[in-house]
Amino acid sequence: MSAVSPTQDAAAGGWIVLKFGGTSVSRRHRWDNIGKLAQKRADEIGGRVLVVVSALSGVTNELTAIADGADDSRQRFEALQRRHHEFLAELGLDADPVVGVHLASLRGLLDDPRAATRSLDWQAEVLAHGELLSSTLGAAYLRAQGLDFGWMDARQWLHALPPQPNQSPWSQRLSVNCRWQGDDDWRSRFAEQPTRMLLTQGFICRHGDGGTAVLGRGGSDTSAAYFGALLGARRVEIWTDVPGMFSANPREVPDARLLSRLGYAEAQEITTTGAKVLHPRSIKPCRDSGVPMAVLDTENPDMYGTVIDRSAATVPGVKAISRRNGVVLVSVEDIGMWQQVGYLADVFELFRKHALSVDLIGTSQTNVTVSLDPSENLLSQDVLSALAADLEKIGRVKVIVPCAAITLVGRGMRSLLHMLPEVFSNFGHERVHMISQSSNDLNLTFVIDEADAEGLLPQLHAALIDSGAMPAQETEVFGPRWREINGAVRPRPEPWWRGERERLLQLARSGTPRYVYHLPTVRARARQLKAVAAVDHRYYAIKANPHPAILRTLVEEGFGLECVSLGELRHVFATLPQLDPQRVLFTPSFAPHAEYQQAFALGVTVTVDNVEALQRWPDTFRGRSLWLRIDLGHGDGHHEKVNTGGKEAKFGLPAARVDEFMDVARTLGVIVTGVHAHLGSGVETAGHWRLMCDELAGFARRIGTVATLDIGGGLPIPYSADDEPFDLDAWAAGLAEVRQVHPAFALAIEPGRFLVAEAGVLLAAATQVVEKDGVHRVGLDAGMNALLRPALYDAWHDIVNLQRLDEAEDGMFDVVGPICESSDIFGRRRRLPAATTPGDTMLVADAGAYGHAMASTYNLRALPDEDVLDGAAD
Ligand code: LLP
Repeated sequence: MSAVSPTQDAAAGGWIVLKFGGTSVSRRHRWDNIGKLAQKRADEIGGRVLVVVSALSGVTNELTAIADGADDSRQRFEALQRRHHEFLAELGLDADPVVGVHLASLRGLLDDPRAATRSLDWQAEVLAHGELLSSTLGAAYLRAQGLDFGWMDARQWLHALPPQPNQSPWSQRLSVNCRWQGDDDWRSRFAEQPTRMLLTQGFICRHGDGGTAVLGRGGSDTSAAYFGALLGARRVEIWTDVPGMFSANPREVPDARLLSRLGYAEAQEITTTGAKVLHPRSIKPCRDSGVPMAVLDTENPDMYGTVIDRSAATVPGVKAISRRNGVVLVSVEDIGMWQQVGYLADVFELFRKHALSVDLIGTSQTNVTVSLDPSENLLSQDVLSALAADLEKIGRVKVIVPCAAITLVGRGMRSLLHMLPEVFSNFGHERVHMISQSSNDLNLTFVIDEADAEGLLPQLHAALIDSGAMPAQETEVFGPRWREINGAVRPRPEPWWRGERERLLQLARSGTPRYVYHLPTVRARARQLKAVAAVDHRYYAIKANPHPAILRTLVEEGFGLECVSLGELRHVFATLPQLDPQRVLFTPSFAPHAEYQQAFALGVTVTVDNVEALQRWPDTFRGRSLWLRIDLGHGDGHHEKVNTGGKEAKFGLPAARVDEFMDVARTLGVIVTGVHAHLGSGVETAGHWRLMCDELAGFARRIGTVATLDIGGGLPIPYSADDEPFDLDAWAAGLAEVRQVHPAFALAIEPGRFLVAEAGVLLAAATQVVEKDGVHRVGLDAGMNALLRPALYDAWHDIVNLQRLDEAEDGMFDVVGPICESSDIFGRRRRLPAATTPGDTMLVADAGAYGHAMASTYNLRALPDEDVLDGAAD
């Protein structure tokens, strides 16, 4: 390869441009990395590599202070000199011969007559020294390592565009754009440089007057893009210390997905509205010249990364969500000039006058509202007051601050609106000041109070995925979650049914649909809960799954049973005639009178949740011991339909009526021995039960006769790979703490789902595989009659083709049932083997809770059969 001249090489392999930022050039091992990567790329393409670098981290800030005329400029210079000398020592190089010239020229600028006026050309020269120093020391080091690296002055190759009509003198020198349309002459001159690899500066270029100009913040990304465009490079790689661009800021949303592939326009929009890894200005040059870009992680050079190119899969959908804080809304009301030609021009003229660049715009007949982005504007109180004073001449002015702009970005936003109700409902409680939809159909922005935006993004991100608006299952576009990349995900243990595949397939042969329950899994979950020392009494909410084998298993494991109807009570005693009624709870909702009477007759513990029952049927309750269910005024749960707390819920005695209840109870000689609350199902908020405990303890003290606090069920399970497994240890620790605070009371729980959901699967046979308008559907012989949860709660259940478990999931299907309802869908856009065929046995996972228990014979389809597996296969 070395026998070939670099020019011939370039013709053969072309160029790759690599850009490294401040942190990537500030340590010796980082430079080793740069050398290795550059060499690797040159070898891979059989071509040449241009490396563009920023200044050492923090240096540009120091130079900016000097350029701004800081009083201690000399001390700052000394510190910079020391810093570079020390770094060269770390690199094992002699400082003077390498960077002496640049340091001397920087010192010379301090004494330059232009320093007095801080002329813009002088400032540009000062600022340019950061990159001149870092590139010079880097080139010397890489050469010393034996690499074929040359150094070049970017100002010989990048030329600022002539000033634009509206451009301020400042931006004509300190925030310039460069020419990037390459020509053959430029290219062949560039290629004549003798070394195979070249190192140059980001951020700096040649001004039209021959002096130095700089590109402004983010300039190194843009320099790399200019060079990429000018060279017609194979690729521009932006090397950073994060694994790429994400669907949200990972610090705020740990579930944010890596964006593996994006189109230029989407990437542009995402970087403009929040993502900091890539400067938005850098995209246009690459886009116009069709040069692909990549954002890559220096720590993980072979993994992850975001590719931005023209061939990015045309997957519509939301790709990212961002939040910008510090946004200012300015609204001008009652515009007297409505319908006069040019009134908008007059309004905007005032923004121009105050040098404010407007972001979003909303207009009505009598109002113009605009948002001002703090990253584009200097939004001082003075500026805003001056603007408001001027605008007052046009109408009444309101400045709303601080606001947050929450933006959804993705191709084809307008066609996604039908998928966004969940997202909109998240904004239900916040005051939305403004909604703006960009004319390029790439973004939808909501402006709300900054305080309301706190904590909203993780919820919105989850809602976008749940609704299908963010197509996270598209593996070409979406990569792993941030949490996974950082190893912060506890891997989901392999589900039991993988090991039982043969037995399940055999059972399916005797007829589908059928549920199969795995008792060892039920026992394992029961034992997990038994190990929680803070809990004194455990009941199983049998409504989740009343299968006799499950009831027996859990009673053997020491659980009592919680029932909600006379039917459940009878079933319990029919299944377990010897069961001590003391181990049974009756917690009905709006049950008929007779059920209370019979429950008392059976000797079980009855829970009441209203005053009216005592008043209407005093004889039934007189002299009884009861538990009291209280609505603590707040609820939670995986779906609004399973939230059982708060005003909208039918359950529980409101806190405000507890005293009234106790008055009636006393007159009847009723003794309240337990207080109970169950505020929702599938609750993921870890502190939920701890808070309940605290609140119930307060009521228990007031009542005086209470021995037990029952904090209900509601423990979640991870239905999808996106769900974090419930942190049982944290839950137990919270309960232990709160138990210590209230040692007088015993603690009871009554979970359903947690004990049985993962233990059950629904087996169904594929009936038909059909394509319609591009959507492939696989039909099952089980539908919403067999498993209602997806239709009722949009619940997620993993679905696999059990027959083809070892085949690649290379097809995408909507999985539907045979019921004549549009909601008869188990899952949309599910990955399954493309070869999925009628007759295949399909498995719907985690169906052990609220599966068969909620099944019906709708459409006169029979109820599914049920089987139980215990112990390992023979
Ligand atoms: N205690 C009471 C008073 C309840 O109402 C419930 C459930 C539980 C305990 C048990 O909750 P768990 O631990 O299973 O979350 N069909 C819905 C769930 C409805 C829950 C009704 N009450 C679903 O499939 O998600």
